Amino acid sequence: MTTMAKTKKIKAEKKKTAVKAKTEKKPEKKESKEEQAAHAERGKKTYNLLRGMHDILPKDEKYWKNFFHTAENLAAHFQFNRIETPIVEEAGLFIRSIGRGTDVVDKEMYVFEDRDGDKVCLRPEATASVVRAYILHGMWNMPQPIKLWYWGPMFRYDRPQAGRFRQFMQVGFETIGDPDPSVDAELILQAHNFYTDVGLPVEIHVNSIGTPEERQRYKTALTDFYRAKRSYLCDDCKQRLHKNPLRLLDCKQERCQPVKEDAPQIIDWLSEDSKNHFMKVLEYLDELAVPYVLRSTLVRGLDYYTRTVFEVYPATGEGSAQSALGGGGRYDLLVEEMGGKPMPAAGLALGIERSVSALKQHLERTQTKIILEKADAFMAQLGDQARRRALKMINDLRHSGLRIDYNFAKNSLKSQLETANGMQLPYVLILGQKEVQDGTIIIRDMESGVQEIVDQKKMENTLKRKLGKV
Ligand code: HAM
Repeated sequence: MTTMAKTKKIKAEKKKTAVKAKTEKKPEKKESKEEQAAHAERGKKTYNLLRGMHDILPKDEKYWKNFFHTAENLAAHFQFNRIETPIVEEAGLFIRSIGRGTDVVDKEMYVFEDRDGDKVCLRPEATASVVRAYILHGMWNMPQPIKLWYWGPMFRYDRPQAGRFRQFMQVGFETIGDPDPSVDAELILQAHNFYTDVGLPVEIHVNSIGTPEERQRYKTALTDFYRAKRSYLCDDCKQRLHKNPLRLLDCKQERCQPVKEDAPQIIDWLSEDSKNHFMKVLEYLDELAVPYVLRSTLVRGLDYYTRTVFEVYPATGEGSAQSALGGGGRYDLLVEEMGGKPMPAAGLALGIERSVSALKQHLERTQTKIILEKADAFMAQLGDQARRRALKMINDLRHSGLRIDYNFAKNSLKSQLETANGMQLPYVLILGQKEVQDGTIIIRDMESGVQEIVDQKKMENTLKRKLGKV
């Protein structure tokens, strides 16, 4: 081919490619107003939390870890097995179990229609879900009782205020299939142990609300009593008088307190059976040396309870004037009401945000600090090569059961030693260029300042010996 012919061919090919590119170019799409707004906002808008939601930040990790490990340990000791139920359930599950007329169902449910038009709900609590799972998976066929525990987020569209969130964490324990009062006592003991183990003194309030028939008779007496005092009541209580008279006993408004003091007490409406059950629970608690406060006005806010009910408060002497850390009770009729075989049950749930906050206040008041599980040593590195080698060593030491802290963002030995000192770690492993080349490492005793050069191969054993771990 001549040069001219070659040039012609190249030109023709270029033209072809240009035409192709032109035809392949996508037509420009006009942006909608929303897209334009979104574009304009991108890079500018920062997002806030939804109302009533909160982040749990690393600075609080020590508390959350402490609570979780305590719950896990207690569950193992008292033979509760972990269950995890979904966060989203059929709305009817909670309406039927918790009951219409309760605040949780009437005002606080996160209900919405999913894409299929089904009415679903973010769980406001987990007892109903556990009962659903118990029935669905035929757990009544297994040796009873079935003891289950859970840890997870719950959702209530509550008016946010101190200690009241729209998403919050609960740990819960449920025992299904045993009517004995020892079960009620064991659960109260569980709550007591939980707070003793995390280091928060609490007060446990107990009461019995009997069976639905006993309660109905009591409700009538209560309504009669309050009706005669209607003019002394706050507006909320006037509503409660019609909707849910038991909630009258829960009122915290000052003007209602004198009326409440003279109100009939549920214990006088209990049958001999219910009274006996309650007495036995109290005897168990005495035997276990679990302190409790008898509170005749304690009724709980969920409909499914029968007989024993209880709530836990920080032991500050303010009792029920503050928010409960947790609560629970017996719910002997719920399994049957939810479509299962009649099966007695009892349980409790503790709110973790409120518990963390109460623990922090207690630690502040008593000037105590939570003791964290510390690392065994700190790895200080100097230079690129040393850093690469250090990461490998840290990982190898982790496999051998040693926890090594480090901060690769720091380059100077001085600042790394300061960090280790701040963490109160007993030893620092120092790895510089020279040590990488020699195959050695320096172990510095932070208390005495004495440094020892050791062969890298012997580092693990030397460190373990110094830590008393061999
Ligand atoms: P509960 O009393 O509704 O009982 O809730 C237990 C705990 O969850 C409360 O004492 C509180 O610490 C926490 N909690 C409730 N609502 C909020 C909120 N809006 N913000 C922050 N924390 C909150 C139950 O849920 C029952 N399922 C307990 C139970 C288990 N009964 C039998 N088995």
